[in-house]
Amino acid sequence: MRQPFFAANWKMNKSIAESGAFISSLVDKLGESASGIGSQFAVVVAPPYTHLGLLADSVGDSRVQISAQNCGVAKSGAFTGEISPSVLKELGCDWAIIGHSERRHVFKEDEILLVARSKAALTESLGVIFCVGETLQDRRAGNTMKVVEGQLRSLGQLSGNSLSRMVLAYEPVWAIGTGENATPAQAEEVHAFMREWVGKAFSKDAAEAVRILYGGSVKPDNAEVIMAQPDVDGLLVGGASLEPVTFAGVVLGGLKGKKLR
Ligand code: 13P
Repeated sequence: MRQPFFAANWKMNKSIAESGAFISSLVDKLGESASGIGSQFAVVVAPPYTHLGLLADSVGDSRVQISAQNCGVAKSGAFTGEISPSVLKELGCDWAIIGHSERRHVFKEDEILLVARSKAALTESLGVIFCVGETLQDRRAGNTMKVVEGQLRSLGQLSGNSLSRMVLAYEPVWAIGTGENATPAQAEEVHAFMREWVGKAFSKDAAEAVRILYGGSVKPDNAEVIMAQPDVDGLLVGGASLEPVTFAGVVLGGLKGKKLR
């Protein structure tokens, strides 16, 4: 079975002072209800860049790993405003989110840039959480799979070894921050399509192993039904990840969906 993966994407929220108590509270909440499940699931928190050092220091030997929300395209150089993957590593980061819908749509990051970011992160031994997803307009036009495939295509140039250090995330743009999540069936349909794409672009084994997260208005009360889908391996959570109790509720609900609790 693929190890369930739960990621908290804080986006541009929380002051550094506000973030301090989060990890210990999250670890407490998970510890109470998820002891005995051991290493069978991963929990990742992605704060703003400025908070990474503090949070990476505070995770200690808990199960929580830390992710950046983006990543520079090279180890160093003339890239004003970018953050080097090797510095992310130095700060104690384990992962980088690449291609989030807000990076694609608000900041106009394109496929060429996103694959360059992914390669740079992987070169510095960061894992990559690579996001794709269609807009409402795409969905209404019946173009969901075409759009998702177009966003995945650039990954085809990576090696199978690189893919094994990546997690894919399906985040329909219309479900992000709207309170309107994809139905479990809608999520499963796209996840199964993404897995099939990995099978064709890489191998059957790679398709079987790759974890695919769902993101978009995930809450403690819908985590279980979404995670119960066979091709949903984890959740990428925005608004509901800002409070440790709520995020722990999502994780525990998700584990229930996989019958781990
Ligand atoms: P919400 O959970 O707030 O809809 O955000 C989803 C998201 O963008 C996570 O990356």
